[in-house]
Amino acid sequence: MADEQQIRDRYASAGQSHVFDYYDSLNVDEKEKLLSQLDEIQVERLDSLLKSALEQESAGTSDADIKPFGGPVGRTTDEKLVADCSKVGMEAIAKGQVAALVLAGGQGTRLGYDGPKGMYDIGLPSKKSLFQLMAERIKRLETLAGDNNVIVPFYIMTSPLNHAETEKFWESHNYFGLGKENVSFFSQGMLPCMKDDGKIIMETAGEVAMAPDGNGGIYPSMVSSGALADMEKRGVKYLHVFSIDNALIKPADPVFMGYCINQGSDCGNKVCWKVDAAESVGVVATRSGKPCIVEYSEISKEMAESVDEDGRLVYGAGNICNHFYTIAFIKDKIIPNLGNLYHIARKKIKYYDGEKKETITPSANTGLKLETFIFDVFPFSENMAVLDVDRSMEFAPVKNKPGSPADSPDTARELISAMSKTFVTAAGGKLTGDESGICEVSPLTSYSGEGMEEIVQGRKIICPFSL
Ligand code: UTP
Repeated sequence: MADEQQIRDRYASAGQSHVFDYYDSLNVDEKEKLLSQLDEIQVERLDSLLKSALEQESAGTSDADIKPFGGPVGRTTDEKLVADCSKVGMEAIAKGQVAALVLAGGQGTRLGYDGPKGMYDIGLPSKKSLFQLMAERIKRLETLAGDNNVIVPFYIMTSPLNHAETEKFWESHNYFGLGKENVSFFSQGMLPCMKDDGKIIMETAGEVAMAPDGNGGIYPSMVSSGALADMEKRGVKYLHVFSIDNALIKPADPVFMGYCINQGSDCGNKVCWKVDAAESVGVVATRSGKPCIVEYSEISKEMAESVDEDGRLVYGAGNICNHFYTIAFIKDKIIPNLGNLYHIARKKIKYYDGEKKETITPSANTGLKLETFIFDVFPFSENMAVLDVDRSMEFAPVKNKPGSPADSPDTARELISAMSKTFVTAAGGKLTGDESGICEVSPLTSYSGEGMEEIVQGRKIICPFSL
């Protein structure tokens, strides 16, 4: 670590020497902690990151440059497409060319759970956490793809706020059978919170207010943590990245992988078509001819409501944070072009009041955080693939508190139960008993409905069941 004077000099030249305002009131340990925190922050970068984010904010957005995606869209309603893609995806998995990565660095404030979201139990009879559901689906996929030697390496992006707890959880569950050597953890970055004038906010007398840099923090941290190098070393060519909060996620989904591979795509997005024009979700479109995600608020009502000759919403490819990349695209296109992709998020950032000698939580958004989104790199793609999937089988977001009408643990649990019942009936089983009870097919039994015939065909299955 640099010495105190060197750190003071760095902060003085960056116009941030106020971080030392309360330094003299700290005890020895607190001083040491603050110096170590300050030493880690790249204070020299902040000014230019903020300037470009503020410029982008004041330029605002116009819908003039926004056009529909225009490229081909695959749909999983096409059974032949699904079968062809699944075969190609499975072959890539069997060759060890596919890895999965979950974005688990968020703070999950809406859910209100005091811990990493992946540890959350949505109330299934099995009490499996979101992490366990994912791990078991990967395990099942490895078995389906071949003999015992097939590995789908799993990478977990945490944040410094939840890294240790996440790792401990996986260790205590023996990595859910995936093997310690095949599960890697790396942390996204954090950036100091600032005021509009760019001054760093102190949360206490001896601590800078820090916030995770958004899920777009994945790219620089894949490099700095060595995760990208590890993928290359293992011979991984294709990466599936998804959010932590989809209870129906199909990690390393062979259909999606195969679809993107068949298209020769560098990058791909799995989407759920919007149910109606008013659904407030970002959609795949183009801006100035480049693929991107446009937020609901960025397009006019007329655009949002426009439909094609089949009556389908033109701006309907709803983003569900479910992405494909070739490793070559990440290395050659994303990493060299990261530049300044940061946006401003105005928040109620706690700050230290030197006169009252206490930390205050403001009632208005008086502070700002800088963050990037994972899809900010889509414009670098030259051949973006879009696959539209069945929402009821693939998307069960866990965003809001239990009891909320939408996107809650309760709705996700119901969706898993409904999918489990579909697995049974599609395989020729007959449901009896209390069908309103929560039913569950373990991911270790079936990844996407396969293998159910042997268990249920021609049989009466009493609900609620656990298979
Ligand atoms: P959300 O936008 O839902 O944010 O993240 P969140 O932090 O989980 O939840 P709220 O808004 O506080 O309630 C979408 C995905 O991106 C990840 C999340 O973990 C989730 O998988 N994410 C988000 C990160 O990995 N890092 C971040 O800094 C933000």
